[in-house]
Amino acid sequence: MSEAVSYELQDEIGVISVNNPPVNALAQIVREGILRSLELAQEDDSKAIVLCCEGRTFIAGADITEFGKPPREPGLPKVLSAIENSSKPVVAAIHGTALGGGFEVALACHYRCAIKSAKVGLPEVKLGLLPGAGGTQRVPRIAGVKAALDMITSGNPVAVPKAHNMGLIDALLDGDDLLSASVRYAMGLIESGAPLKRIRDINIDSKELEPDFFENARKKLARRARGQIAQDRIVSCIEAAVELPIDEGLERERELFLELVSSPESAAMRHIFFAERQAAKIKDLPKDAALRPINKVAVIGGGTMGGGIAMCFANVGIPVVLLEVNDEALDRGLGIIRKNYNITVQKGKLPENQMEQRISLISGTTNYEDIADVDMVIEAVFENVDLKKEIFGKLDSVCKQGAILATNTSYQDVDIISEATARPQDVVGMHFFSPANVMKLLEVVRGEKTSDDVLATVMQIGKKIRKVCALSRVCYGFIGNRMLGGYGREAQMLLLDGCTPSQVDSALEGFGMAMGPLAMGDLAGLDVGYKAREARTDLPDDPKLYRMGTLLVEMGRHGQKTGSGFYKYDPETRKRVADPEVEDRIIEEANKLGIERRAVSDDEILARCFYPLINEGAKILEEGIAQRASDIDVVYIYGYAFPVAKGGPMHYADAVGLKNVYDKICEFRDRYGEEYWSPAPLLKQLAEEGKSFAEWDKERSGS
Ligand code: 3HC
Ligand code: NAI
Repeated sequence: MSEAVSYELQDEIGVISVNNPPVNALAQIVREGILRSLELAQEDDSKAIVLCCEGRTFIAGADITEFGKPPREPGLPKVLSAIENSSKPVVAAIHGTALGGGFEVALACHYRCAIKSAKVGLPEVKLGLLPGAGGTQRVPRIAGVKAALDMITSGNPVAVPKAHNMGLIDALLDGDDLLSASVRYAMGLIESGAPLKRIRDINIDSKELEPDFFENARKKLARRARGQIAQDRIVSCIEAAVELPIDEGLERERELFLELVSSPESAAMRHIFFAERQAAKIKDLPKDAALRPINKVAVIGGGTMGGGIAMCFANVGIPVVLLEVNDEALDRGLGIIRKNYNITVQKGKLPENQMEQRISLISGTTNYEDIADVDMVIEAVFENVDLKKEIFGKLDSVCKQGAILATNTSYQDVDIISEATARPQDVVGMHFFSPANVMKLLEVVRGEKTSDDVLATVMQIGKKIRKVCALSRVCYGFIGNRMLGGYGREAQMLLLDGCTPSQVDSALEGFGMAMGPLAMGDLAGLDVGYKAREARTDLPDDPKLYRMGTLLVEMGRHGQKTGSGFYKYDPETRKRVADPEVEDRIIEEANKLGIERRAVSDDEILARCFYPLINEGAKILEEGIAQRASDIDVVYIYGYAFPVAKGGPMHYADAVGLKNVYDKICEFRDRYGEEYWSPAPLLKQLAEEGKSFAEWDKERSGS
């Protein structure tokens, strides 16, 4: 047959078995193998055919690495046609995750049986795609149009018991022996004379749909699209399923799938799919690095970050001890945790008993003796290096040997903190993002002396608490916050040059950022940046620098919390409104500084804000702070809400062309000075060589 697919007759059942680790993706050899097995099965003594998979999962989708390459026969639609037109019933036997093209294979089968722990889904939208092998035409036929739209535009997997209720699965199998159970199920079908059930033959009942159903769906999805076009095309496909005969619907689906596959949005999202998985791998770490068991954790400081971090562990069943300075602070911290869980319960996203179970895993203390037995400590007290050193000294004296001692510091030097202990090899940075229980990124900061097993354990525990991990070496602000400096600086400089706050934010939001930098400043509190700047000695003495942010704080406009900052805020709705007072003040300040304000284009706003960020990214790469350019993209997508449809700042730079980015930076250097606009040597080198960051990564992969 083929290495990836085998076929054998078991009594009266022909069993097609796919074995293409790790996730049985539908690579060309798998498609060909299934097709040839089907041909054999049509000719032999089998009365029905079971299609199942070896290893950890049913087919988890098309082989994503094949997208963007010339197509190879047989295409998936041809395989699905052969399944659907089989003269003998074909039964999909599902375990693990039947996703994307994998679930579409199952939908082309005449029957679907599954073990209860399995999941099915059409996650293509998360790759900027739509299900391209009939998913948009078949799901509405069995599950209804509304359920199909929901499932395909969200891309979220559906647990098998629910999928069974939706009609997507015909039978639930008991026990662990999937093959025997599915063969028995197939025998039962033959014995009962079950017909060749084809989803294509079902008519869609569109009476349930309001007249403007699709129009409304498009509008609703457009509001959160952030540069993604796949949702819109999915609506078109489902509309086609309702209005056209299935073969024409399938044709429409194929046409739109091909459009998406070659779109820059999908290329960016596929880049992130692989980048995220790469980022979890530490290049110079042995694959079999030993792991330390983590069964109990302590968090020091129950403020904004500490509370969220404690929730991350409790959410996956790991007990946490929260340590605070006094009972009052402790009660406040624990109270906020309860309040946060309550909100989730009220939104219907967590059953109340599970909330209680999670809260019961979080205990509080003010006594270091109570954390002596934990396997990992995460410190999240005020951002003050002396305080952090004092705490690490205490941890060193109370914690058991082998405990991992982590700091959530945003900027401080992890190596200096580790020197407060006699075990720097156990010290590491675990930089969460706010709100820590929601944001997906975990920047893992590798100190000079952090040991391999500590790093490997932190990467593994990061995955366990459902974070996306990226490794950073020590520097001021690590990868993410260090790069952010120029972004915020230019957003404010642009005001003096001629923009209004709304213009700057709208240009960046139009690009896909969740929130523009000035509105973000208002949300975080302008006083936070103000205080941080006061503590810095390395900032140039330039009256233009952060001029407006500083003035607004001095005017008592600290952002949303005081009702005004760069904008005014409606006290009821918290909606931002442009404030003429700020705009007049900007003009006044520009005049004082002798800056002639001018019209600034959106393109200039994007370049002024993003190119310093990319330039710093290039410096971070050449200094070895980040392992890969793609890791930087992961940091920005998951920690800073950079639009996934743009693939992260480094991928975006590749798309613009590094030569174009470099030339523009040189132009800005000539206009605004070397201080802020000195091109990174790596950027210059790649621009001259005509290379991309992706190529740079590739050349270094494995090193
Ligand atoms: N194609 C190619 N490689 C894939 C793949 C796919 N569809 N899915 C996973 N892989 C690779 C990963 O890159 C990873 O490789 P690595 O070990 O070299 O880093 C390896 O398989 C294991 O993947 P995970 O680390 O993600 O393993 P998990 O066990 O955590 O998760 C999973 C398994 C839930 C199946 C997850 O991998 C997943 O969600 N995969 C993608 C599913 C998907 O998007 N399918 C739709 C594809 S598009 C499609 O089908 C189009 C069709 O409509 C025509
Ligand atoms: P916070 O001010 O909300 O909380 C700090 C908590 O630490 C307070 O509850 C305080 O009582 C407690 N604390 C102070 N000294 C202590 C001691 N000696 N022992 C025990 N507890 C003590 O601060 P936040 O925002 O949670 O920040 C904490 C750390 O996380 C800082 O290092 C910060 O840089 C970092 N961080 C903050 C982010 C944010 O967005 N707020 C994001 C990522 C990291």
